Amino acid sequence: MRVLGIESSCDDTGAAIFDLNQGLLSHRRASQVDLHARYGGVVPELAARDHIRVLIPLVQAVLSDAGLERGDIDAVAYTAGPGLAGALLVGAVAGRTLAFSLGVPALGVHHMEGHLLSPLLDDENIEMPFVALLVSGGHTLLADVTALGRYRILGESLDDAAGEAFDKTAKLLGLGYPGGPAIADAATRGVAGRFGLPRPMTDRPGLDFSFSGLKTAVLKLWGEVEHDEQTVCDLCHAFEDAVVETLVIKCERAVRERRAERLVVAGGVGANQTLRERLVKRMAAQSVQVSFPRFEFCTDNGAMIAYAGARRLAAGESDALEIRISPRWSLSDLRSIEA
Ligand code: KG4
Ligand code: ZN
Repeated sequence: MRVLGIESSCDDTGAAIFDLNQGLLSHRRASQVDLHARYGGVVPELAARDHIRVLIPLVQAVLSDAGLERGDIDAVAYTAGPGLAGALLVGAVAGRTLAFSLGVPALGVHHMEGHLLSPLLDDENIEMPFVALLVSGGHTLLADVTALGRYRILGESLDDAAGEAFDKTAKLLGLGYPGGPAIADAATRGVAGRFGLPRPMTDRPGLDFSFSGLKTAVLKLWGEVEHDEQTVCDLCHAFEDAVVETLVIKCERAVRERRAERLVVAGGVGANQTLRERLVKRMAAQSVQVSFPRFEFCTDNGAMIAYAGARRLAAGESDALEIRISPRWSLSDLRSIEA
């Protein structure tokens, strides 16, 4: 089965073709970073309009990259949520309509399930159960994954997601959008130990997160110091260290509680090099293996949607003839497709 995947939940348009026998055949992404950068964050209406502009050419490009015609597609999977309603609608309308015109099934996919399964794009041998850390711009959560579709949320952010905290802190320090890569880059030039920041909610039991206080702590420090380049880098270093250490402490706790042998990390913040290195080291100390998606599949992409869709379509799922989006949709509401 050959599945066209479409992602349009936020500020990246993604398209990909995944074949259940041959694997990933092609994938492309069109980023909207330049479009939103001057506003310091994603403008939903501009995002939706740009998805409209680039989606069909992107689908044509992934088909031609794979040497395929539209008629060679067996099914279409598109992101149905969670995400920005207008942005989601573009992918949903395009995906559902294309499937209808070709007479093939369509399926609305959960964006976070796409992230969660993205490491399997390169390594199908990753076995469940495992604990998943999903860290993106909109979500930060730890989930117990016992089967495909059976996800129990162990803890999640009570306020800002980790990526959102990176983005807001970067804005505060006058760095560009998206903030995660900008802070990570500045942090490499920062001096460790000049500023100390808390590790929120690590001093009490539980697996929930809270990152909004960190941004406030940075704001307070920012009001007390000279605004020179080295200070920005030092603050970025302290901020990244605090977020990473908080995530690592909670992962250690989660794998210990679940007696997990594997931790899967996905989502945009999973691209952070400091987080990757520290997790690998600390998980090794607990004999836990860590799996990440390929670097380019940490942030939003069509490949993960094609993959998650293919697994569910192969299990017999498909949507009725309707255009369905769910801008708010919990991962724990998904149906398990394995016994
Ligand atoms: O998964 P994603 O592409 O979109 C959502 O589903 O939200 O994640 C985007 C988030 C942004 O907040 C961005 O700042 C963050 O991931 N991010 C990073 C890095 N690269 C992207 N955060 C920290 N370090 C990075 N290297
Ligand atoms: Zn995402």
